[in-house]
Amino acid sequence: MSEKLSAYKIEYFDQMVSTNLYAKTKRAQGENLFIIAKEQTGGMGTKGRSFSSTLGGIYLSKLSFPIKQLATNTFTIMQGAAAAVCKTLCAFGLTPQIKWPNDIFVNGKKICGILIENSLSGKYVASSIVGIGLNVNNTLPQELTSIATTMSIELKKELVVEDVQELLMQYLCTENIDKAYHQYVGWIGEQVCLLVGNEQLRATIKAVDETGRLCVDVQGKEQKFTAAEVSVLPVLSSDRANS
Ligand code: BTN
Repeated sequence: MSEKLSAYKIEYFDQMVSTNLYAKTKRAQGENLFIIAKEQTGGMGTKGRSFSSTLGGIYLSKLSFPIKQLATNTFTIMQGAAAAVCKTLCAFGLTPQIKWPNDIFVNGKKICGILIENSLSGKYVASSIVGIGLNVNNTLPQELTSIATTMSIELKKELVVEDVQELLMQYLCTENIDKAYHQYVGWIGEQVCLLVGNEQLRATIKAVDETGRLCVDVQGKEQKFTAAEVSVLPVLSSDRANS
C-alpha cells in the first residue's frame, strides 16, 4: 500500500444508492475516505444522467480535503482521476483514450465515467469527491452495448475486480498523476461534433489547454470551450466521409 493510500479509511458496501451521495454525507467528518460499492441502485452520471451500476463493475468515491487548492484550478483533480483510470487500464493491457474532459474509452467505446463533486470555501476547494464507475466484468444493459464496453469484453476474460480496484486506488493516491493526463487525450487532430447548448457544430480538436479548456478549430478559427459549455460527440468515420 502506498503511503498516501494508507491515509485513507475505506468503507465497503454490497449495495448502495450512490457512493457520491454517501460521500457527501461524510464531508462534515473531514476524514479522507474511499467508499466502494459492489453495485449502485441510483448511480449518478454527469449532467443529471444516471449511470448503470450492476454487479461486476467498480463504483467508488474518493473523498478528500485538498490543501490550498484554488477553486479556479479544479481541472487538476479531473486530470488526476482520468489519468489514474488510464494507468490502471494500461496495466491490464488495454489502450485507453480520454474523451475530453474525462470519459474513458477503449476501442471507441466508453469503459469508465467520472463524476467530480467539489465543495468550495471562498476561493479554495474545501472537499473533493471523485466518483468513478469502471466497467470490469459487469453485463451492460442492451441499450448501451453499441456505445459502451467492459474490461472483460476487451480482454476476453474475467478479471479479479479487487485487483483492478486496488491498483486504481493506488494510482488515485499517486502524487502528480494529473501530469499524465495529456498523453491519453484522444481525438486530437480529428473532426468531432460539438454540442453547444442545443446547437451542433463540426470542429477539429487541437489540444486541451492548461486550464482544461478544449481548443478547437471551427472553420479555420480557433475557439476554446470549458466543459460546462460543450459536450464532444465523436464523429463516426462513415459520417466523416460524408462531411
Ligand atoms: C458519467 O459518465 O456520466 C459519470 C459516471 C460516474 C459514475 C460514478 S460510479 C461511483 C460514483 N457514484 C455515483 O453515483 N456516480 C459515480
